[in-house]
Amino acid sequence: MDKKIIEILAKNDKYCSHGDTVNYADPPKVFENCEGSFLFDENKTPYLDWQMWYSAVNFGYKNKRIADVLHKQVDTLPQLASQYLHKEKVDLAEIICKYMEEKYGVKGRVHFNVGGAQAVEDSLKVVRNHTGKTHQFAFMGGYHGRTLGASAITSSYRYRRRFGNFADRAHFVPYPYCFRCPYGMKVETCDTYCHKQFEQLFDTEYQSVWDEKAKQSEFGAFYIEPMQGTGGYIVPPAGYMKKLQESLKKRNILLVADEIQMGVYRTGKLWSWENFDIIPDIFVFGKAITNGLNPLSGIWAREELISPEKFPPGSTHSTFASNPLGTAVALEVMNMTLEKDFEPHVRNRGAYFLKRIQELKSRWKCIGDVSGLGLALRIELCESDGFKASRALADRMFNEGLKGDIMIDGKQYGLVLDIGGYEKNVITLAPSLLISEEEIDLGIKLFEALLKRCGAE
Ligand SMILES: Cc1ncc(COP(=O)(O)O)c(C=O)c1O
Repeated sequence: MDKKIIEILAKNDKYCSHGDTVNYADPPKVFENCEGSFLFDENKTPYLDWQMWYSAVNFGYKNKRIADVLHKQVDTLPQLASQYLHKEKVDLAEIICKYMEEKYGVKGRVHFNVGGAQAVEDSLKVVRNHTGKTHQFAFMGGYHGRTLGASAITSSYRYRRRFGNFADRAHFVPYPYCFRCPYGMKVETCDTYCHKQFEQLFDTEYQSVWDEKAKQSEFGAFYIEPMQGTGGYIVPPAGYMKKLQESLKKRNILLVADEIQMGVYRTGKLWSWENFDIIPDIFVFGKAITNGLNPLSGIWAREELISPEKFPPGSTHSTFASNPLGTAVALEVMNMTLEKDFEPHVRNRGAYFLKRIQELKSRWKCIGDVSGLGLALRIELCESDGFKASRALADRMFNEGLKGDIMIDGKQYGLVLDIGGYEKNVITLAPSLLISEEEIDLGIKLFEALLKRCGAE
């Protein structure tokens, strides 16, 4: 191993907390450069990235147009306390609000923050302030971040176990994950049985969520990822989300869509909820809104939830909220999406990618399920029966891909994979939206080489 890398790893061992996710890989991986769809290690070996910083870099590493705006902002107004205004902030908020007004006829406002979980916290404040309720519904398999409030609505107990009592822990509802239906049904014949199960919660007060006399729920909102992200890039069945919103509307329960991972054209639409014939009361965004450059996140909420009377000055604040480097870059990203309709581009490229991974499934018994929406795709790794989850195979593929020693047509490459899913056996694919068909083909060769190397059938 390169001396420089040994030193970096030694310092990580000695000085860095291992409480983040770096040490999931053994040894942790070091990169030195990036461009387009590739990361580069100390030997300049290219690693095709199938996950693009968990879907934060939708428009490719070092995207020149976006980077140029960052440089320009560094030279003009790089720093400004968030209590003052700057043009980029209000222009960005206007674009997000006008999109909602013109396309869906709904008025609202935007509130910015820095990281995704922080914006989730802000949305929780808006919900609590409006409804007076502390408790929320959320999905099993959902992921909303790791601050305390976001952990309370994230189903994984692993993220809460060591941190005491979560009095505001959500009521978790099974997500419609049809490949492994939580109710053992078949999607072709179930008539969205899972939605009926949710409806039944409101039948009597004894199901513990609804007071029929007062016509009140104990729950202020239902937090959804319209397409589940960390849970394994799961597309819900047709009609489910619409029925869910109808159930909530009847009971005055708000719908909050978390768009942090699937927003900004990942699924072929600007916001992933647009695929499902629903309009949320609040949505939360982050990650790709700045293409992974200076972080910025935020929420959009309907006017009645976030009007100045309802949510007055000082209701929430963070030093770096609406930082001008972030707003300038996000404004450029949004302008790009106004100038070019990314929907047909992502749909076509996604269809090509899906076709190529469907071919893989037909050749490999260990691939139990492939599916996706736009360029959010999944490969579910199983044992040779094509169903029993194989976390071991996913872990091997992940580690081998990071070795950067796969030879394709006489050239050396690596493959960057991310693993999600309830059983940590799903390769979740979030490539650059600008990935070429040649790069998709290269990825398929690399993935197949890894399957062979890992002894898959
Ligand atoms: C759907 C979703 N919500 C919230 C978050 C948390 O965002 P952040 O990591 O920026 O705090 C993530 C991060 O992966 C996410 O995927």
